[in-house]
Amino acid sequence: MDPFDVKGKTAVVTGAAQGIGKATADLLHQSGCMVARLDVQAGESILVCDVADESAVEKTFKQIGKIDILVNNAGIVVRKNALEITHEEWDKVLGVNLTGLFLCARGAARRMKDQGGGAIVNLASIMGFSGGLFPNPAYQASKGAVVNLTRALALEFAPFGIRVNAVAPTFVRTRLTAPVFSNPELLKKVMDHTPLGVLPEVEDIAQAVLFLAGPAARCITGVTLPVDSGYLAR
Ligand SMILES: NC(=O)c1ccc[n+]([C@@H]2O[C@H](COP(=O)([O-])OP(=O)(O)OC[C@H]3O[C@@H](n4cnc5c(N)ncnc54)[C@H](O)[C@@H]3O)[C@@H](O)[C@H]2O)c1
Repeated sequence: MDPFDVKGKTAVVTGAAQGIGKATADLLHQSGCMVARLDVQAGESILVCDVADESAVEKTFKQIGKIDILVNNAGIVVRKNALEITHEEWDKVLGVNLTGLFLCARGAARRMKDQGGGAIVNLASIMGFSGGLFPNPAYQASKGAVVNLTRALALEFAPFGIRVNAVAPTFVRTRLTAPVFSNPELLKKVMDHTPLGVLPEVEDIAQAVLFLAGPAARCITGVTLPVDSGYLAR
């Protein structure tokens, strides 16, 4: 048996227009999945859907039909410290990264329950386990919540054969992290906290998602797997 066999499965990837979401959607497609790519940005083969809008999620999921794999990847950041971030910005980050992720997980689980099972993989972050290298409280709060929501949903959905796990990347070069990668001082700080001395690319994160979504992980649920080059080992 191929431990990574996901052929013929239907996968939904949120935030799939670019970055980690696109790499994950591409890998699932190459692995034989039918992939529905959701994003707020219109584009080729994108279903436009704001994950923070419950009725849009419901409508889009109904359109997709059967869902075997959900990758909850859509995420945003507002890098402002606690004294400066506005209430509106705080709500926006939590609205996408936490509430949007929850709405998609619930929408998918309602379908997976009737189908006899499925796999959900959430995008957490090393910032869900640490106070980070600079103030980023809304993002850190949202990702910490994703780590524990992953456990809570894993327990609730286990009786239905639905596994729920997460991946926690360190800094990966995407549009989201452009301000970090273009700041040499900050990048040096990141590398000083990177024991392996090399940062993952989007494909490295996609491969961890594929592992958690597939049969190799059939007895794994409720965990968050760091793909962090050793960042959290300190
Ligand atoms: N890049 C990193 O270093 C890193 C590290 C840890 C975790 N992550 C997480 O990985 C995920 C992907 O990050 P990325 O770096 O590829 O970001 P990115 O900004 O390159 O891509 C995110 C995608 O999500 C989409 N999106 C944003 N809000 C949305 C919404 N409301 N509904 C639907 N789609 C929406 C964007 O349009 C974009 O296409 C995020 O959850 C992020 O927090 C990224």
